[in-house]
Amino acid sequence: MTKDVFVFDHPLLQHKLTMIRKKETGSKEFRELVQEVSSLMAYEMTKSLPLEEVEIETPITKTKSFVLSGKTIAIVPLMRAGLGMVNGILNMIPVAKVAHVGLYRDPDTLEAVEYYAKFPKDISEREIFIVDPMLATGGTAIAAIQALKNREAKNINFICLIASPEGISAVQNEFPDVQIFTAAIDPGLNEKSYITPGFGDAGDRLFGTK
Ligand code: URA
Repeated sequence: MTKDVFVFDHPLLQHKLTMIRKKETGSKEFRELVQEVSSLMAYEMTKSLPLEEVEIETPITKTKSFVLSGKTIAIVPLMRAGLGMVNGILNMIPVAKVAHVGLYRDPDTLEAVEYYAKFPKDISEREIFIVDPMLATGGTAIAAIQALKNREAKNINFICLIASPEGISAVQNEFPDVQIFTAAIDPGLNEKSYITPGFGDAGDRLFGTK
């Protein structure tokens, strides 16, 4: 069964998303905001992670308390804009591993080609958070999810700031088991496959390359 898209509606997050969208927001502020939004998202997207009880000692007495159970998390940023979300999530979950997959679209076949991959050995045991600020056509997301499934990854989540209805449908049709988290679903794509109204080219805005 297809999982419902989770839309983050926290007021703080929505406020920051508005600042991210504004064209006059420069790269420094844009980067900081993307990082802050990613931290806020991490709080919400990890709320069903399993816990285990451990015995500890406070300065006062022994007690039982909870820690995250098992191998926990791998963050998979999609290059290049996904890199802007990694530190925000690591600030909240410092024990998370970061896996990398590099993909480009072959101009002749239009197929996504994997040119780089570095995953932790235990990737199949981890909760996976693929991060990319935009879910536009869904092409890169689908190729990344496939790359992870090829390595036996099971619990896969896709986290973005803005999604298009086209991107959501494409991912859900291919991989109904993948949970999508987003802060906004915009009306659609323009003729260049940019999300509209969106916030433009996320990589250029993050890294000042325009
Ligand atoms: N990638 C971007 O950076 N922006 C979009 O709107 C779509 C894809």
